[in-house]
Amino acid sequence: MADLSIKIGHTTFKNPIFVASGTFGYGTENPELVDVSNIGAIVTKSITLNPREGNPPPRIVETPSGMINSIGLANIGVDKYINEMLPVYEEIGSPIIMNIAGSSMEEYIKVLQQMEAVSSNIVGYEINISCPNVKEGGMEFGVDCNMTEKLTKELRKLTDRLLIMKLSPNVTDISAIATSSENGGADAVSAVNTVVGMSIDHKTGKNNIYTTYGGLSGPAIKPVGLACVHKVYNSVKIPIIGIGGIVNSSDVIEYILAGSIAVQVGTANYRDPGISEKILNDLNSYLDEQELDSIDSLIGSVKTYD
Ligand code: DHB
Repeated sequence: MADLSIKIGHTTFKNPIFVASGTFGYGTENPELVDVSNIGAIVTKSITLNPREGNPPPRIVETPSGMINSIGLANIGVDKYINEMLPVYEEIGSPIIMNIAGSSMEEYIKVLQQMEAVSSNIVGYEINISCPNVKEGGMEFGVDCNMTEKLTKELRKLTDRLLIMKLSPNVTDISAIATSSENGGADAVSAVNTVVGMSIDHKTGKNNIYTTYGGLSGPAIKPVGLACVHKVYNSVKIPIIGIGGIVNSSDVIEYILAGSIAVQVGTANYRDPGISEKILNDLNSYLDEQELDSIDSLIGSVKTYD
């Protein structure tokens, strides 16, 4: 059997199939449906400094081959995360990557400082600089190279744990933002967050999302994710975690060929919270069939025409 372990920064993961932030709660919600010890890593729901109720409903709607959400960063806040989730993570059996969101540099810094001031087995932080749904949800960082680099640098000073910047596809040049993340000292980038979308009910003439626009995810965005990963792969040396519309092991292989070292399964968890385990088994079978010992030789090896 192939060795599926991968290394990002100084952290080794047993396999490259992670679950994406916002699609797997705090990692503890589905114990009877999924054995989380088989997941490469769980990226937990975005945490902000203070608890948030999120946006009013409707805040989620199904779309062709995908869904749009505008949750508005509903979460329990960092204090409760520390008090209630960290003890559970001691026993969970899967590495935890904490996703952090903020509306100002100070907010990201304060959350990270609070996390670093307590003992925990969290392996790293994914920084959400790409939430499309709140007025000040990090997007202003994710579309601006200088702010991305500055934020990354500030956070880098505060932690030796993995620092992963989560990139938005809603930008002119994702390679430039990835380069700023790398220059700021990030260990990796994850690409991509949701694509801005809109859903209208033609019968009622109503918009299906309270905030008018939301974040589109699911298979509808896989081609966008692949293009972004490939562009970023050609621009930076740090590892890329591919995200966007992954539902099976073929999707994973495509993301690896585009340049990803690991992937996050997101929207597919809503249909089947145990899907990442199945994807992992199928990836293993594929590598055996191809007589490959690891995914290493596949990373970024897509054959392009130029
Ligand atoms: C939300 C956050 C995101 O980063 C995203 O891509 C979509 C939705 C939210 O909480 O609204």
